[in-house]
Amino acid sequence: MKILMVCLGNICRSPLAEGILKEKVRKHKLDWQVDSAGTGGWHIGSLPDNRSIQVAKKYGIDITDQRARKIRSTDFEEFDVIFAMDTSNYNDLCRYALAEEREKIKLIMEESKPGSKVSVPDPYWDDNGFEQVFKMLDEACEQIIERYRN
Ligand code: 4NP
Repeated sequence: MKILMVCLGNICRSPLAEGILKEKVRKHKLDWQVDSAGTGGWHIGSLPDNRSIQVAKKYGIDITDQRARKIRSTDFEEFDVIFAMDTSNYNDLCRYALAEEREKIKLIMEESKPGSKVSVPDPYWDDNGFEQVFKMLDEACEQIIERYRN
């Protein structure tokens, strides 16, 4: 499986999603590729936001090897599933993708809360939001492992 996590800046939510899923992939000894990207390019080349680094570290996950990048057209060919963190990211990705690639794009919280259309809230302006984001993504990534491992 090749899975891409996407948010707006690729510094807060999708780096956490990438780090959490990679840790579960490692624990389950799966041969998966996991990456992340942003729909916007303001933070290209940057480390994840320090608040994401800290909450990941609290749960034993190091995400300091990650650097922000922007989504590119080849991502839609290369990856099997592309998870958007919120409905705005989802709509942006659907606009960038070719019609036949759109079925690869999913809202990540649909994995743990099917049918709910729940977004992972953007924690950029909320120092206290990172813990909740971590927990939501941890639940969703657990379901991703269960759903796609076989
Ligand atoms: P992310 O959060 O999409 O979870 O990485 C944001 C990061 C940066 C900005 C917005 C959201 N920004 O406006 O720079």
